[in-house]
Amino acid sequence: MKRFFIFLYSLTVIIFSSCSQNKAETGDLQSNNHKKETAMKNEEIKTLVVFFSHAGENYSVGNIEVGNTKIVADYISKRTGAAQFEIVCEKDYDMPYMQLIELAKKEAKDGELPAFKGKIDNIEQYDTIFIGGPVWWGTYPQVMFTFFKEYDLSGKVIIPFTTHEGSGLASCVDDVEKAYPKAEVKEGFSLYGHEVRQAESKVNKWLEALGF
Ligand SMILES: Cc1cc2nc3c(=O)[nH]c(=O)nc-3n(C[C@H](O)[C@H](O)[C@H](O)COP(=O)(O)O)c2cc1C
Repeated sequence: MKRFFIFLYSLTVIIFSSCSQNKAETGDLQSNNHKKETAMKNEEIKTLVVFFSHAGENYSVGNIEVGNTKIVADYISKRTGAAQFEIVCEKDYDMPYMQLIELAKKEAKDGELPAFKGKIDNIEQYDTIFIGGPVWWGTYPQVMFTFFKEYDLSGKVIIPFTTHEGSGLASCVDDVEKAYPKAEVKEGFSLYGHEVRQAESKVNKWLEALGF
């Protein structure tokens, strides 16, 4: 009888430990599958970052070699693998800050649409498009509106972002929504221009919340 109980006890221990082992293996398998699924999803979603950024003399950060918004665009590409298109104005904006302020004010007042260089080949391939720029006089620089006029992004997911020195998103998200009424425009994200060089983790947190 005693032997029978020892046998029964050993059998129970074996069955229990084998079950918990299976459970751990299943857990590992599930987490690996989840990782694979996330990687596949990121590969499937074709993402582009379209941005304008002005290097040179700038408010609060002095004379900068790389513009504030470009730094954010680079963080986005680094994390998501997104391709980039930089809107570079045909017009030369290389001038002292106060002069640029006046020029930009006039462009906005006149609703000017300055030409930009280059083009995007096959915009159809992208499902999700980040759009970013500095706030100039309460919205994006006029040359970005030229882009909005030239590229139809209907049906795409658009994620706007800005860098600024106090205005936040200003009217940038509203203006993107007006330009693309048939796109899904997500909530915008803004950063102070003088903060961007220390803000990679902040950008990554935002991207993580968006599912990237
Ligand atoms: C012409 C001009 C107009 C600006 N207007 C605003 C504004 O209305 N509100 C604001 O918060 N910042 C304004 N700024 C500051 C920029 O938005 C900020 O410095 C931004 O980070 C610059 O980004 P960038 O280096 O990518 O061009 C202005 C800067 C310039 C040059």
